[in-house]
Amino acid sequence: MNFDNIEDFGFDLKSFRNWCEYQSNMKSMPSSKIAFGRTHKWFGNEVILVHPAVIKKGHWDETVDRLGDYILPGWDCALLCHYRPGVGMKPHYDHSVFEPLVGLVNIGYATFRIGNQEHQLEDGQVIKFDSSILHELLPVVSERWSLSFRRIKPQFLRTYPTNNVCATKLKLIEN
Ligand SMILES: [Fe+2]
Repeated sequence: MNFDNIEDFGFDLKSFRNWCEYQSNMKSMPSSKIAFGRTHKWFGNEVILVHPAVIKKGHWDETVDRLGDYILPGWDCALLCHYRPGVGMKPHYDHSVFEPLVGLVNIGYATFRIGNQEHQLEDGQVIKFDSSILHELLPVVSERWSLSFRRIKPQFLRTYPTNNVCATKLKLIEN
C-alpha cells in the first residue's frame, strides 16, 4: 500500500468532510452481510453487487471526478460510504466485476486490516490496495467516510454503449 493525503492533491480536508456530511440520497445495502449499517452512494457507474453484477448510471459530481483523476486515473465507479460509530466491514474480497486495485480516501479515523497487516488510517489519507487480498475494517469509534475508486473489468462494461444510446434517446424524447 502507498499513502498520500488529499491535501497533497490540493483538496481542503475540512471542505471535503463537509461535502461528505451534506450528501443526500445515501442508500443502505440491507442485504450486505459484510457491512451492516453502512450507507452509500455511487458516482460514475453504480454497481449492484449481486452475481452477476448489475451496472447502472450513478451520480455525477465535479469533486469526485477531479479527485478520481488524481487517485485512480481511468476509474469507472466511485463509492462513498458512511460509517456510524460501531459499524465496520467484515473480512471479504471485493466483487470480481472490479479490477483489484482500489484507490480510497479515508475521512475520519479507521483501522484497516489487509492480509496479515494492520493500518491506522488518518483523516484525509489516500491509500491504494489490492482488493483481491482479504481485507477488513474494524468497527469505527467515530464517524467515518470513505470514497473508493475502482475500475470495472472491460468485459463487464461491454453493454454500456447500448445504455448510452438509450439515455441519449430518452433525453431527446424529454426535450
Ligand atoms: Fe472491500
